Amino acid sequence: MDNVKVIINGKECIAEKGELLMDIASRNGIYIPHLCHHESLRGQATCRICIVEVMENGKKKIVTSCIFPVVRDIVVETNTEDIINMRKTLFSLLMAEVPGNETIRSMAEEYGIRENLRFYKSRGNECILCGLCVKACEELGCNAIATVSRGTTKKVSTPYEEPSIECIGCGSCASVCPTGCIKIEEGYGKRKIWNREFEMIKCSVCGKYFITKEEYDYINEKCEVLEAPVCKSCKQNEVAKKVLESLMIEEK
Ligand code: SF4
Ligand code: SF4
Ligand code: FES
Repeated sequence: MDNVKVIINGKECIAEKGELLMDIASRNGIYIPHLCHHESLRGQATCRICIVEVMENGKKKIVTSCIFPVVRDIVVETNTEDIINMRKTLFSLLMAEVPGNETIRSMAEEYGIRENLRFYKSRGNECILCGLCVKACEELGCNAIATVSRGTTKKVSTPYEEPSIECIGCGSCASVCPTGCIKIEEGYGKRKIWNREFEMIKCSVCGKYFITKEEYDYINEKCEVLEAPVCKSCKQNEVAKKVLESLMIEEK
């Protein structure tokens, strides 16, 4: 793979040709604010907060770093006056949309934006319609949620807002949501998400509830291996690994 030279805020970074600018920056410890990009999911190019200034072939342009593949040597500035002013406008609009959301509020405050009553257009929830949750569910192969409706009633939902039979209750959508607005209720061996209640199963090592039955079955079906259920922290534990091995021997 060919390498390209990328200078970001004066720092020289080596990158593979075609690599996304956002990934190059984060690998080199340079933070570019973002909302619709997650480390495990490519940016959705919906929020535009990740805009930066790129000098390429002697020409200056503004690009969306989460979807910009670097194919030649470039010089990048992430915080020019123009970029800061554009982010101010974007945060101002987001503050009008989700005034009560803590993540947006604290990011906006870094740009001196405190509230925006002028363009107030809240849809009554804290969703910024970034699309990450829908993408996460789609990548899993479940397709349980989608963006529905238009204008001020546009939102992410299960079909007809009914509990979806496609949903496995994994919570991936909630874990990638930048505003934390997808609610999961958990307790007494049950998990509730998107209006559907799931039975949970226990880790065979520590005994704690950690996964829904539907997600466990789904993983086993996809991976075609029937394993005793073991939570993430126990899997990382050497002693637990040995217990798991003996359990698997017993199963055979
Ligand atoms: S909890 Fe349901 S909607 Fe959310 S990612 Fe998992 S399957 Fe999709
Ligand atoms: S619920 Fe969260 S992840 Fe989904 S679109 Fe809204 S803000 Fe984005
Ligand atoms: S993070 Fe790039 S457009 Fe949202």
